[in-house]
Amino acid sequence: MNILLLGSGGREHALAWKIAQSPKTNKLFIAPGNAGTEQAGQNIAIAADDFPAIKAFVLQNDIQMVVVGPEDPLVKGVYDFFKQDSQLKTIPVIGPSKEGAQLEGSKDFAKAFMMRHHIPTARYLSVTKRNLQEGIVFLHSLKAPYVLKADGLAAGKGVLIINDLKEAENELAAMLSGMFGDASSTVVIEEFLSGIECSVFVMTDGNSYKILPEAKDYKRIGEGDTGLNTGGMGAVSPVPFANDAFMKKVEERIVIPTVNGLKQENIDYKGFIFIGLIKVDGEPMVIEYNCRMGDPETEVVMLRIKSDFVDLLEGVADGNLNKKQLVFDNRNAVTVMLVSGGYPGDYEKGKAISGLDKVEGSIVFHAGTTVKNNHIVTNGGRVIAVSSYGKNKEEALQQSFKNAKIIDFEGKYFRSDIGFDL
Ligand code: AMP
Ligand code: GLY
Repeated sequence: MNILLLGSGGREHALAWKIAQSPKTNKLFIAPGNAGTEQAGQNIAIAADDFPAIKAFVLQNDIQMVVVGPEDPLVKGVYDFFKQDSQLKTIPVIGPSKEGAQLEGSKDFAKAFMMRHHIPTARYLSVTKRNLQEGIVFLHSLKAPYVLKADGLAAGKGVLIINDLKEAENELAAMLSGMFGDASSTVVIEEFLSGIECSVFVMTDGNSYKILPEAKDYKRIGEGDTGLNTGGMGAVSPVPFANDAFMKKVEERIVIPTVNGLKQENIDYKGFIFIGLIKVDGEPMVIEYNCRMGDPETEVVMLRIKSDFVDLLEGVADGNLNKKQLVFDNRNAVTVMLVSGGYPGDYEKGKAISGLDKVEGSIVFHAGTTVKNNHIVTNGGRVIAVSSYGKNKEEALQQSFKNAKIIDFEGKYFRSDIGFDL
């Protein structure tokens, strides 16, 4: 079958790598892709949210499935765009409807959904300018630190964790006055949860589901989880604390009520659910939902799936996921992200990348790269994800670190302590 994958990051390169291995894949196109996805398929110069251009391409190239990488096109309604178009409606889009994407697109929606379905999560209150006073009273009822979340998408920057109560009150007011534009005209105030986090990924066809390998990502720029938040500096899978007993609780208390809740509420959801979890006193609680796979988690999760991934995607599209087989690779997989100097602050692009041809024993996923004058150059903050297998985490990390040193570009930085806390 001919498949169109939307997106351009490390997640999309990892998805493309796995999709290209399937005997069911005829042609794979990536819109817009990066210098790495070009090795797995053919890049096309269409933005992932340019729906009219996507429509034209899908019709001209006999595309039989569209796989959506990032949240943006989903929150903007790419699924609904296909469903409502007489020429496109029979072509499956892997990803939720616009309404389903609200699990990520609106923190207020996600929290209310969890309340309705008794899914464990932090206590909260949603606040707008109208009930600011109520918000302040709620803040006073909590213990420090205080968690403030912009309701809408804010490029991963919309969560503030503040130690001082007065400062939290000021930041709440600033958020409601447009700190993150419209995204923070509603703010979710949450109780702070203390524990260790991991990411669980679910594939669903709207009825049945499969739980993919779990992963843990490392969001801070600095070693020992210090400094500014980034899009993710590395990931590991499996996560030792997410053992069978823990995952059983996750399935019973979170995955099943989530999938059933979507179904009960007639929300069309055929795609991935990313559940950001925190383990508090041994019990799983939901920190957030995303309506897509994680990045850089996908750069380890794809390594840990032995089964034909396109067969699983077909199960999602056709509503017979329960008939499909999902077999894990029991090895450990890790990824180490090479980032541009200055990231997550300002950084320069266009730096020549060397050493890619010298890598041995790792799988290199491109995140922010492009081709300029026949040379692969940096094109983003997160540049390359170096993924490796090992019989344990340490062995896999050694391999990734070795190759992380071989690949080079001006200003390159990576964290040498991925997995340190496990
Ligand atoms: P989110 O965008 O909701 O994932 O939040 C970003 C990060 O903030 C999470 O990965 C957590 O590390 C942290 N965080 C969010 N909500 C809470 C909470 N209620 N308690 C503690 N940490 C939180
Ligand atoms: N790694 C976290 C995310 O993809 O949102």
